[in-house]
Amino acid sequence: AEHPYNHLTDTLDNGRIKFFNPQKLNDPRYDKLPLSIRVLLEAAIRKCDGLYTKKEDIQSILDWQEQQNKAEVPFSPARVLLQDFTGIPAMVDLAAMRDAVAKHGVDPSLVNPRCPTDLIVDHSLQIDYTLKNQEMELIRNKERLQFFKWCSKAFKNVNVVPPDFGAVHQVNLEYLSRVVQLNEGFIYPDSVVGTDSHTTMVNGLGILGWGVGGIESEAVMLGQPVSLTLPQVVGCKLVGSINPLSTSIDIVLGITKHLRQAGIAGKFVEFFGPGVSQLSAADRTTIANMCPEYNATVSFFPVDQVTLKHFKTISDQEKLELLESYMKAIKLFQSYEDPSEDPHYSEVIEINLSSMVSYVSGPKRPQDRVAVSSMKEDFQSCLDEKVGFKGFHISKEKQETRVPFLHCGQEYKLAHGSVVIAAVISCTNNCNPSVMLTAGLLAKKAVEAGLVVKPYIRTSLAPGSGMVTHYLNTSGVLPYFSQLGFEVIGYGCATCVGNTAPLPEAVVDAIKQGELVACGVLSGNRHFEGRLCECVRANYLASPPLVVAYAIAGTVGIDFEKEPLGVTAVGKEVYLHDIWPSREEIQQIEEDTVISSVFKDLGERMEKGNTFWNNIECPDSVLFPWDQKSTYIRKDSWFPSIENAHALLFLGDKVTTDHISPAGSIARVSAAAKYLLSKRLTPREFNSYGARRGNDAVMTRGTFASIKLQNRFIGKPGPKTLHIPSGQTLDVFEAAERYQREGINLIILAGKDYGSGNSRDWVAKGPYLLGVRAVIAESFEKLHKNQLVGMGIMPLEFLPGQNADSLELSGKERFTITLPDSLSPREQLTVKTSQGKSFVVTALFDTELDVNFFRHGGLLRYVARTLL
Ligand SMILES: *[C@@H]1O[C@H](CO)[C@@H](O)[C@H](O)[C@H]1NC(C)=O
Ligand SMILES: *[C@@H]1O[C@H](CO)[C@@H](O)[C@H](O)[C@H]1NC(C)=O
Ligand SMILES: *[C@@H]1O[C@H](CO)[C@@H](O)[C@H](O)[C@H]1NC(C)=O
Repeated sequence: AEHPYNHLTDTLDNGRIKFFNPQKLNDPRYDKLPLSIRVLLEAAIRKCDGLYTKKEDIQSILDWQEQQNKAEVPFSPARVLLQDFTGIPAMVDLAAMRDAVAKHGVDPSLVNPRCPTDLIVDHSLQIDYTLKNQEMELIRNKERLQFFKWCSKAFKNVNVVPPDFGAVHQVNLEYLSRVVQLNEGFIYPDSVVGTDSHTTMVNGLGILGWGVGGIESEAVMLGQPVSLTLPQVVGCKLVGSINPLSTSIDIVLGITKHLRQAGIAGKFVEFFGPGVSQLSAADRTTIANMCPEYNATVSFFPVDQVTLKHFKTISDQEKLELLESYMKAIKLFQSYEDPSEDPHYSEVIEINLSSMVSYVSGPKRPQDRVAVSSMKEDFQSCLDEKVGFKGFHISKEKQETRVPFLHCGQEYKLAHGSVVIAAVISCTNNCNPSVMLTAGLLAKKAVEAGLVVKPYIRTSLAPGSGMVTHYLNTSGVLPYFSQLGFEVIGYGCATCVGNTAPLPEAVVDAIKQGELVACGVLSGNRHFEGRLCECVRANYLASPPLVVAYAIAGTVGIDFEKEPLGVTAVGKEVYLHDIWPSREEIQQIEEDTVISSVFKDLGERMEKGNTFWNNIECPDSVLFPWDQKSTYIRKDSWFPSIENAHALLFLGDKVTTDHISPAGSIARVSAAAKYLLSKRLTPREFNSYGARRGNDAVMTRGTFASIKLQNRFIGKPGPKTLHIPSGQTLDVFEAAERYQREGINLIILAGKDYGSGNSRDWVAKGPYLLGVRAVIAESFEKLHKNQLVGMGIMPLEFLPGQNADSLELSGKERFTITLPDSLSPREQLTVKTSQGKSFVVTALFDTELDVNFFRHGGLLRYVARTLL
């Protein structure tokens, strides 16, 4: 059938490349839409099929001004990103589908994902290596890797990134993200949904994307759009110019703080305004990665000149020109020149970048922040004040103390505020390369200006990783660090300041003699208290370049604005602003050395693959040769029998849907509360389960979280159960999670009228996500029974007159339920226990359709499979 929006087709590159041009709608509303919404619109137009994406949806998106926060719209991202945890079930499903269609005489090679899928294998390997049973894990990994390798060869549209190429988000940023996609002569914006929590980082590169759950990502892979409420878009307008002393970290943290205070949960944030062009691609991805901090869905930086420059290192000129003309043709390119072209946002937050000043923390606690500009005054007041969090209480006359001492044959003097330790550490909060580069460039310029660091100061450089040393070296700044005395002492936080060499004895003596408040300055973010030498009473955390600056100054009692950093051998005064590198300079070096070498390195390794991966043998077959012995990769059987299952719960009569999925408030001590606290919510913000129906992490934890739940494993009512293998009493969720980790199937034992009460949308999904595969009860509420079937959970009924007590079940035995090859409605099945008992139950599939749903693992999968 003809595409309903064929009339919007436009071409580029002398007609060789086609695209849908929403501007041809001639709708004045298009030019006012936030750019992120334009991305949604383009995708809806391109994917419009009258089934999943309808013409009404395009109208709703165009009418965003009116429809925001109201209309549900579909979004078909350009690609799906899976990490191997979620990748396995999705890929096993696909492979099993090939078997199934082959059985029906259809060519199995027709079964492929409909949405391009990238599968990054590193994730679980990292975790597995930390397990005790390493050898076993390696074998298991091999099975998995074989399977993944087979997937990469057998399926179209599947790209497998082998292990050891980096963490998911890094590979996504540096290898997979391409701003536009070119597919069969069609060009369209890149966009992504991923199962990795760092997925939002790519929004820093103008690529719309966010994280979704496993089931959702599988649906997208099978060609279904994500459904979302048309979001509100907060325009974050950046104005003013960046304070010269502020590093990228200062700016990222400053912007994050603003956004957190603004309360933009669940919304899109989109950056605009003249200040945006001052932020490098690395700054932007870091800000975009902070989304969870302020709870926005995405922080979107539309494509601009900075984005293009970032991709210059990996794209040839021709591709970049195509990209630019395409993005301009559909108005997805930002120039910031003409404010009248600014989109209309739901609301606008203005941030003046000049207000993001640089801070240091100290002198005693990391939470005491001092603006660098007021450091001198602040240190003075610390000397004056009585002893406390900040004060040292040094009398006025003693504040003037100067203690001379000899070091290597030369006389120096120490005073209050003298720096004796300076450590440049690239710890977690300094992983943005520009910050270490700034420090290196400052060192270079200081050396070139003729400045030195006094030799008695203990200086050190801990780059955090070989990669940091590598780019410090490539950019040519490493030798200058070393000339100032900052030698590489080792890697990682393990070698943080605690390991620096002791201070020279003469220095220690001088400090003691004058009872001086000597200072340490370091750029780490941990190990604050008591890690530096005992005789160093004031410790400051500062950005790496400021560590270099204070080391050169030799004191923290300096006002960089008014006082020179140092005096050269020929008597020339040099101020900090004389040698502080400009952002342009830093960004240039970052693009030239860091980014290009990272891209190049990753690209080359991808080409070559690694020996381990290359050596993995894998079949060339169209169908996967399942090894039924494998504990890791096993075809999801069409009739998933239940083997050696434990009972998650042992329940009595009249368990209602309110016990199964309570709608009330979230108790302060519950698995859901623990989760929400980990997301930095306060108990007052918890709200009710009912209000949080959209969040599967909360709802799974809320399943069986009723305080009225009567579990026979536990003497009193409450949302607890027994983890039978360990004998521990745990929250139901925690027990279920543990069983899942142990690969143990779960069932539920219950009495009469299981599942009575109001219908709730999580009553079947919740137990399913907890790993429950069957419920054995004396009787079921019909509606609930249907929901269980729809979710792929077996409703099994004891024979009339029988129940757990009459069968003398303790609930602690293990249960095996074998299914016949073909199942008929209301078929009787035998349950065997590990105690050697067996009893008969009726499988409550009332119709062939019920059997069908169940055979496919539930309604969702049934639909997905029919689609294919
Ligand atoms: C930003 O703040 C600086 C310093 O406070 C001020 O001089 C400047 O005018 C402000 N810029 C804008 C656009 O508000
Ligand atoms: C985070 O987002 C969720 C979903 O939009 C919202 O319910 C919650 O209140 C937000 N929390 C914070 C701290 O903003
Ligand atoms: C820095 O690079 C040079 C030249 O490529 C090399 O010889 C040297 O070993 C490198 N130093 C470090 C610390 O990596």
